[in-house]
Amino acid sequence: MKYQDALHKLTLFPDTAGVNQQGHLTIGGCDAVQLAAIYGTPLYVFDEATIRAKCSEYRQEFGQRYPNTLAIYACKAFTSQALIRILDEEGLGFDVVSGGEMHIAMSAGVPLDKVYFHGNNKGEYELKKALEAGIGRVVVDNFHELALLPRLCGELGKTQDILLRLSPGVDPHTHKHVATGILDSKFGFPIATGQAEEALRIAVSTPNLRLIGLHFHLGSSLFEVEPYVKALEIVLNFAARMKQQHRFELRELNIGGGFPAQYLLNTPAPPVSVYAEAVVSALMREARRLRLKQPRLIIEPGRSIVAKAGTALYKIGGSKDIPGVRRYVFVDGGMADNIRPALYDSKYEAVVANKMGKPETDVVTIAGKFCESGDILIKDVRLPKVEAGDILAMPTSGAYSIPMSSNYNASLRPAIVMVKDGSARLIRRRETYDDLTARDSV
Ligand code: LLP
Repeated sequence: MKYQDALHKLTLFPDTAGVNQQGHLTIGGCDAVQLAAIYGTPLYVFDEATIRAKCSEYRQEFGQRYPNTLAIYACKAFTSQALIRILDEEGLGFDVVSGGEMHIAMSAGVPLDKVYFHGNNKGEYELKKALEAGIGRVVVDNFHELALLPRLCGELGKTQDILLRLSPGVDPHTHKHVATGILDSKFGFPIATGQAEEALRIAVSTPNLRLIGLHFHLGSSLFEVEPYVKALEIVLNFAARMKQQHRFELRELNIGGGFPAQYLLNTPAPPVSVYAEAVVSALMREARRLRLKQPRLIIEPGRSIVAKAGTALYKIGGSKDIPGVRRYVFVDGGMADNIRPALYDSKYEAVVANKMGKPETDVVTIAGKFCESGDILIKDVRLPKVEAGDILAMPTSGAYSIPMSSNYNASLRPAIVMVKDGSARLIRRRETYDDLTARDSV
């Protein structure tokens, strides 16, 4: 049998990925093996060009079909000051879900009027911080907040632009942990139960609140466009009914995020153009049919902006061969820096960054270093023969790994570098042992 080398996997890596003369993986013109040597491992490498290309793909595909579109980046997918700066330059707004994410955006110098504040249980202190800083929109999620927000606005003498988050009751066909727009969800006012109408009635008649529009978010990793189209129809019909009954004018429609990324060679994700075409044509068709003015369209991509741009580098250490069963290969990270395989059974590919041209003869299981049997990053991945000291590179690691990372087993959260045109800059240093005890007292 003739074995392939790792080159066929390059399409999963950032746009700038390649292989140099030493047979090493390169990203953004930087040798991944050298990056691992300089900054240590585990290391997360983000490619600036891939991030910017994704932003411009969103701008173009939605913008040419519906110029009145704003993409706001869902910071929960990964946030850092450096990333925020880049996205701000690319003209994106931001979706934050906590005072912490708001703080990072503000510390990077982002004007808060481009920021949308989400969450199903925003704290009073978080809402106050948002109001004082002049947040663009608060996306009101439930009746508690619908009472709390105007009270805080009143105390601060402010009127706040808001959206109502609706639960349209559409099944997005994705993992149950990341399906949000269904009826049995903690998020949003359900349309089907009449609670969305009740919330809207309250919102339009409450002083200190200005109801600008409606929001829904169906879930994450939606490989199909139909759920968006269905939800759009449901929500626009609701808006038309509310126009008649409560003189509500839909000025802004926020359809959330959920656009997928390709993690495996055999699971390609539809391009942005497919979503843009489906969403925009449904929006224009329904708005015309229902005699609604065309609202501003807001989209909230998270994963699809950063997933492909990010690569995780690990150093291979020991291994364990169980004859006839499986060969475990151990790396110096795992579930503490990427919980997704353990939590969602998420799948990843991998290559050996210092053996890109070598035939992939073996099938192994990549296990982390943490004290749990479930700490498996990849089950059955095809790799060349590996040995201790090799550098394993896992593509599409840019979304929801770092933000969901932990200090499990008192591990140190990894360093992160941004690469561009052959140079790398550290955008977050690795934690130190002192960081682990910095908040303790005896
Ligand atoms: N907007 C709202 C209101 C959201 O709740 C989310 C994600 C997004 C936008 C962005 O969705 P994206 O474009 O990234 O799919 N931890 C999970 C994903 C959780 C997503 C939560 N909400 C994972 O690792 O797959």
